[in-house]
This record gives sequence, C-alpha cells and structure tokens, in this order.
Amino acid sequence: MAILFQEEKRIFTLQTKQTTYQMKVDNFGFLLHLYYGAKVSGEMDYLLTYYDRGFSGNPNDVGNNRTYSMDVLPQEYPTLGTGDYRNSAFVLRNHDESACCDLRYAGYEIREGKYELPGLPAVYAKPEEAQTLEIVLEDAVSKVRVRLLYGVLEDEDIITRSVKITNYGTEYIVVEKASSACLDFITGEYDLLSFYGRHIMERNLQRARIGHGSQSIGSRRGTSSHQYNPAVIVAGKNTTEDIGDCYGMVFVYSGNFLCEAEQDQFDQTRILMGLQRDLFNYPLESGETLVVPETILCYSGRGFGDLSMKYHRCIRNHICNGARSRRKSGKTGFIPRPVLVNSWEAAYFNFTGETIVELAREAAQLGIDMVVMDDGWFGKREDDNSGLGDWQVNEKKLGCSLGELVRRVNEEGVKFGIWIEPEMISEDSDLYREHPDWAMQNPGRNPARGRNQLVLDFSREDVREHIFDQICRVLDQGNIEYVKWDMNRSLTDFYSVETRQGKVSYDFVIGLYDFMEKLLAKYPQLMIEGCSGGGGRFDAGMMYYTPQIWCSDNTDAADRLWIQYGTSFFYPMSTISAHVSAVPNHQTGRITSLRTRGIVAMTGAFGYELSLGKLSAEEKEEIREQIRQYKEFEPLISMGDYYRLSNPFEDACAAWMFVSKDRKRVLLHVVLLENHGNMIVNYVRLKELLPDVVYEEERSGKRYCGSALMQAGIPIPVEMGEYLAYQFVFTAKE
Ligand code: GLA
Repeated sequence: MAILFQEEKRIFTLQTKQTTYQMKVDNFGFLLHLYYGAKVSGEMDYLLTYYDRGFSGNPNDVGNNRTYSMDVLPQEYPTLGTGDYRNSAFVLRNHDESACCDLRYAGYEIREGKYELPGLPAVYAKPEEAQTLEIVLEDAVSKVRVRLLYGVLEDEDIITRSVKITNYGTEYIVVEKASSACLDFITGEYDLLSFYGRHIMERNLQRARIGHGSQSIGSRRGTSSHQYNPAVIVAGKNTTEDIGDCYGMVFVYSGNFLCEAEQDQFDQTRILMGLQRDLFNYPLESGETLVVPETILCYSGRGFGDLSMKYHRCIRNHICNGARSRRKSGKTGFIPRPVLVNSWEAAYFNFTGETIVELAREAAQLGIDMVVMDDGWFGKREDDNSGLGDWQVNEKKLGCSLGELVRRVNEEGVKFGIWIEPEMISEDSDLYREHPDWAMQNPGRNPARGRNQLVLDFSREDVREHIFDQICRVLDQGNIEYVKWDMNRSLTDFYSVETRQGKVSYDFVIGLYDFMEKLLAKYPQLMIEGCSGGGGRFDAGMMYYTPQIWCSDNTDAADRLWIQYGTSFFYPMSTISAHVSAVPNHQTGRITSLRTRGIVAMTGAFGYELSLGKLSAEEKEEIREQIRQYKEFEPLISMGDYYRLSNPFEDACAAWMFVSKDRKRVLLHVVLLENHGNMIVNYVRLKELLPDVVYEEERSGKRYCGSALMQAGIPIPVEMGEYLAYQFVFTAKE
C-alpha cells in the first residue's frame, strides 16, 4: 500500500520505493505538512514546534493560544488571509471582495489507480501502478471546496499533485492565484536550480541560494517560454550530480506559470509551483470547478543524476503519448522515430514541389525515412509576413496538389511530414480579412505584433473548429504521417471578446490541448512534433501530445551541447529533437565537423536540416554511416539510462553516456570544448557499469574492467581541431 491513513492522529503517509511524504490534519482541521524525503517510518508530527512568535497572528478558534500560527507551521496548501504572510498557494477573492479563504479538513478518499484531469495533460498509469489520495478542504464561509489530489507511483518514486477548486456557494467568486504544489521545509538550507534562456539559447542552468525574501521564475508569455522552463530542482547546499538531497518540481502545463522560492523569518523554506498570478483572475460561478495543472514531485538522495533518471522514466513511460493511451487504436509505449530531413534550413521559403521530391530522392539514397515540408506551402506565404490562418495548399508554388506531392515522395520510399502553426494569424491573410475579431487584441488598442503575426483566440471553440476543419482538409489529402506543430510568438493581448477576462490565459491553453486531443483522436497514428521557435514550449504538458519537441532553433553543434545538457535534467532524450545542419551554422556562423554534428544530434530524436543535394560524395557516405549507427543505437538512446558525465558549463569537455537496462551495452559520447597548445589529456569516467565485468570497446577492440572505467576513466585523444567529437561503444564480455 503506497498510501496509508492513521485514523487516530489523522496522519497521511505516501510511501514510494525510496521516499516518504507525510502530512497531518491537526486538531483545528488545518492540513499540515510533516515530511518529504528519503524513506522513513513512523509518525513525524513530533517535528512540529509551537512558540509564541511576535507579529505572527493566531487563528481565532485557537483561543488564547499565542503559540499557534499559520505564519510558522508547515502547510500543504497555504492560503492568503489566515495569518500566513509567506507566499500563498491559493488566493481567493470572495463575492464581497474580501481576500480570505480558511481551508479546513472535510474528508479524504484513497483510490486505486492514478487520477486523471479533465481537459489537462497529466501523468497516466495502469491501475496497478498507482494510487490516488484525495483530501478535501473546505472554507466554511464561501463554501469553496479544494480537493488536493496526490498520485503515488510507488515504483517510480514519483508523487504528483494537482488541485480541483469548486465553488459550492451560491455567489460568484474569483480565484486570483492557484498553485498545484507547495513544499514547506521546516529546516535546512537550499539552492534553487532553474533553467533560463532565450530564443536560440534555451535552458541554461542557474544555481542560486534560496535566501531570505522571495525569488521567482515564471512566464507571462502565454506559453511556458524559452526564458524559464517550468521545472526546478531544490537541492541541499552540497548536492552534486552524484550525491546529496534534491527535490524536483515539474509543472505539466504549457502556459503561464509561476514558481516561487522563499526563506522565511525562521529560516524555513517554501517552494510553490503553479499557475502564474498575473493575467489571471479566474471567475467561478456557483457549481463551477477550476482544475490546477499537475506538478510532478520527485526526491533523490543520490544527486541530480538519479533525480533526472527518475524524471526520464516517468515522462517517457507516463507522460509521452498520454493522449494516445486512452485510445485503443493509438500506439503507446515507445514508438521508433523516423530519421527525417526538414526543409527549413535546407530551403527556407524558397522551394517548390520539385525541391521536396528531390529532397526525398536524396533522402532515400541516404537511408533517411521522412521528408518534412516546413513553413511556406500554404496561402500567400513567401516569407514570414503573411498567410498564417489560410491553411490552403499553394498548388501554384508546389506545382501540383498536396496529394500528388505526398504520393511522389512516398514513391521514393520516403514518408511525408508537414509543418503547421494553427494558433496564429497574419494580418495579411484571408482569414484576418474575414474575421479580424478572431485575433486576440485589447479593446480600443492595436495588438502588439510578434514575428509580424497575431495570435488566434484559441479560448474560443468556434475559432478552433474553423482551424481544425482546415487542418483536417490538408491532412486528408494524402498519406501524411507527421506534423510539426509550431508557435512562433509570445502572447501579449490577453483579451477575448467571448471568454471572461482573467480566464483567457488559462482557457487558451485548455483550447490548445482540446485541439490536440481531437487531432489525435481523428488521426491516432499521426506523430506530432512540438515546436515554438524551437524550445519555447518545451514542457511536460506538450509531451503528453507531442512525444518529441524541436529543442531549439539553434542547430549549432557546440551550442546544442549546453542546451541539451540543461534539457536533460528533466526531459528524456527521446523528447529532444536534434538535427544535423549545414556549416557555417546558420545561427552562429560556427564550423564544426560533420562527425561532431552527428554525435551531438544523435543524442535525441535524430534528423537532418540541410540541402542534401549540396553534399559531397564523402559527406553522403558519412551520413549513411551516421544513420546506420543511429538506427543501431536508437533503443539505447531512447530507452536506455542516460548519464551526464561532465558539466559543459564548467568542464573542458561535454560527455554523456547511455546504458542498456542490463548494463551490458554502453554508448559514450564526448565532445572537447577546449583545445590548447600542448593540450592536457581529458579523462572521462563512466557510471553505473557492472564493476567486475570486462567491457570491449567495439572500434578499438580494447578491453577494460567496468570498475576501471568508472574509477579511472578513459583518456580522450589529443588531436588538432575544434569541438572534436568521439563515440565509444562498449559491450560486456562474459
Ligand atoms: C520556427 C521553427 C523553425 C521553422 C520556422 C518556420 O522558427 O522553430 O524550425 O519551422 O519557424 O517559420
């Protein structure tokens, strides 16, 4: 049993293989947090202490007991208005305008299986893999009920948290802030690891001490954003890749979010993860419910590497393809990914149907499985200033119908994929001329442009339906097996003529999920790749529908080392779409070898993004070999355990490895970041091999003992050149 309830003391305990989470309903009905961390047994309520703290108010019903204050006690779902002056998980504006909500325990339920969230992506599991705890809290005055949901995946060391807020009162209320998870630590000093960035340079690691005051990351962009990823790690001061305590919080949501970390006056630490407070005032009429997106919690006492491994398994097996898992016809589990060539960096807007067929012909000769026709095939779209919203095939440009083009590509033995950007509208489009009010804009103001385009009001069903029909008409024209779903600007004008204001930022995302859900219901075999100017919406919410996401518009092999390193802290390699592109690189001008580009891209869902016709015979031969290798290693890369072996932000090389479940096959990739005169030798130490087993490195035939590879490592050659890359393949010999 993963979930236990001790009736007498009203203590809830969630047990996973290696972790324990405990909370208690106290005598006043407050739900207090007791413990989260390495597995323990027993009741932890002895940890709670009570002292008279000046200027920390006391709830009215505790009488004259000045030692009882919500300002000091650790809580599961702290609210504003009860005397807790720290960051609140939940802020309610009552009908009478008062901002108070006093949540007290009203009951619980334990169920087999993992809860689902209506309209939202969430971790899914087989009934025997998970249990659900639902704790009901109620505010006696407003009659607002908050149902705290806990999903426990015992074998995965995963606890999920979500919240359903229902207005059982008769009057209309407004939710002004809602988080799905709060972690209160009564002791300890912590660092916050967050992943910041920008377009073309996403997910850089920042580690900062959580000091007094509040620090936060988040997004007000309508998407999870390039700027801050909705996932953080809270770590002990001395925690490293391989040792120490760390907690992860991964938000399963693709819109505005807020993560706050705070050390309070008594050196206690509180971390919150949930919906962004700005641009959000969610009205609930009597009987209505707001569902707060899920946060996936995980703890490891063995450093960041182990924490990442647990997240990789969870996201790979319990998030990716979630939208399909509900349908019998859809494939679930791991679906081998096509090696593709994308037309974007090969031709940008400058192509015809012939260009695509030619790309397919070349692709077939190299062993590439799929051609993706990127932006530029529809409406009036010769550059990025027009045409969005007009999802009619530009047959004049292609020189044929889409059906014919797909057929010709298929005749070359190559699959066909297509790019779309359904949430957008260009002012220069027939759609805008017909429905200018479908673009989000504030009344009486001109909307802000981004990439010279506006955003469609996806909170409206009629708008979504129109676009859905257009997209289906495109997909019905031929054997289209893959869609790249793009989203190329941040939202600014959060206003809808139909939807109540304050709901728009959330309802937009719900609309997006609804669209994807319907698309996959209609085309259960379709593979959707996510994209938002590369990694602007690289989050676990999207992964539920799009099991791979274009990780960054930056295809430079060197920059990708940092981007993919940061991404790897939560997201499995199978979600990271990575392509070999031309040199000099189109984003940085850097020149790296084809070998380096191949090895770096061969870390995720592999493909190409260049004009195959311009390659020399030698390069083509090398690409053939890369694809052969990728196909050989794909099960290891996608399903094996991934280990970071260095930190490219600090070390002279980037090194990472994949290991099979039985630890007998190992793929090691190394890229040297520095090269100087009379260069020192880099040694890379492997991890988690079988210590007493002899491994043979396939290329050199050299044999090493597992323990030696782990303790002493192997020397990386000193050679001339920049960003030199090495691939080693080790196989255990009995
Ligand atoms: C975005 C994507 C690119 C490409 C272009 C097309 O920037 O990230 O890969 O599809 O749009 O306009």
